[in-house]
Amino acid sequence: MKILVVGGGGREHAIIRKLKESPKVEAIYCAPGNGGIAADAECFPVNAMDIEGMKALAKEKAVDLVFVAPDDPLAAGMVDAMEEAGFKAFGPRASAAIIESSKVFSKDLMKKYGIPTAGYEVFDDPAKALAYIESQGKYPVVVKADGLALGKGVIIAENYDMAKEAVHSIMEDKVFGASGNQVVIEEFLTGPEVSVLAFTDGKTLKPMVSSKDHKRALDGDKGKNTGGMGTVSPNPYYDDAMAQRCMEEIFLPTVAAMNAEGRPFKGCLYFGLMLTPDGPKVIEYNSRFGDPETQVVLPRLKSDFADIILAVAEERLADQPVEWSDEAAACVVMASGGYPASYPKGLEITGLDENGQLPGAEGVTVYHAGTALKDGKLVTSGGRVLGVTALGKTLDEALNKAYAAVEKIHFDGAHYRKDIGRTR
Ligand code: AMP
Ligand code: GLY
Repeated sequence: MKILVVGGGGREHAIIRKLKESPKVEAIYCAPGNGGIAADAECFPVNAMDIEGMKALAKEKAVDLVFVAPDDPLAAGMVDAMEEAGFKAFGPRASAAIIESSKVFSKDLMKKYGIPTAGYEVFDDPAKALAYIESQGKYPVVVKADGLALGKGVIIAENYDMAKEAVHSIMEDKVFGASGNQVVIEEFLTGPEVSVLAFTDGKTLKPMVSSKDHKRALDGDKGKNTGGMGTVSPNPYYDDAMAQRCMEEIFLPTVAAMNAEGRPFKGCLYFGLMLTPDGPKVIEYNSRFGDPETQVVLPRLKSDFADIILAVAEERLADQPVEWSDEAAACVVMASGGYPASYPKGLEITGLDENGQLPGAEGVTVYHAGTALKDGKLVTSGGRVLGVTALGKTLDEALNKAYAAVEKIHFDGAHYRKDIGRTR
């Protein structure tokens, strides 16, 4: 198989490293890729949102499958375009990717089909949204922009003034553009959060091992929300009984609901769950692999990943084995100083070998998220720079290995959390 992977972050690097293990994979191309991915796949400077450019690349390289990893090209219909051009593709069509790209759609879906989620109301008028928040008088209250917002469209408002500011910036200042034409005002839930990614071909759903993301920038879950500062797998709060319950109450009903709506979902469906005192509830759906969840989930996959994605694309997942190792995995993200606000770029990274890996560190993989090659040297090029990942017999062992590796890698202003896997 020749595979084209669309995207250029840590998630895509983890996807590519796993595909490389398959004896059936003959060539892996990536667009746009990054400085570290270049050691594992041939990279091409085509923007992930450039559907025509991506189609031309797929044709030129005569690929057998296109793996569309990021949310925005999925929402823009890249899978539809590839399929129309005769390529097999991994990922949902736009009609199904809406489960992530519109929170109004996903909330209404859950309400209609009785899938547990936080109570909510939808508004397209800021004055009405504020009148509702005031009449409820319950804080914190959660304010969400309807559309994609780079993981920053959710504001947990501690009081009326904060809620007012959130509604104004989303709906009037349009800080997320058209994503803020509508808002969802949601009840605040509490409990541990769990990420469960699942393979589905629209008929069968096979969940992957669970994981836990640490979204806040600073230790002790302080600071701003980020794309994710680190992950562990398995999630210590998610046991077999809970997995069984989520399968029955959430996962299978979601697949059935999407089919009933005429929007069959094929690809990786991501369930962002909260284990509340009233049972598991959906916080969000994503239409793709999570980042940095993928960096701890895929290293634990024992079955052939290329076989699985092909089985999903060809709707034969029921007959395809999906097996996992019992090891634990931990990923610590090294970010640029200042992230998630503004940060410098182009700083030299030291400690890594010519393949962008840590020499002699057994069981450790460095997934590149925001790196570039400049005059043959690795430099920083994004907010999240590296996802330093380790496998271990226990979570402690995996964490100790990952942190020992982080100590050996340097760039100016590097920032990472010291408490990944050790807080709720
Ligand atoms: P989302 O982008 O929807 O995953 O939201 C980002 C983060 O906001 C989640 O990971 C939660 O930590 C938090 N969050 C979202 N919705 C709620 C809610 N209803 N109650 C409490 N926290 C929430
Ligand atoms: N790590 C959260 C996400 O991928 O949306």
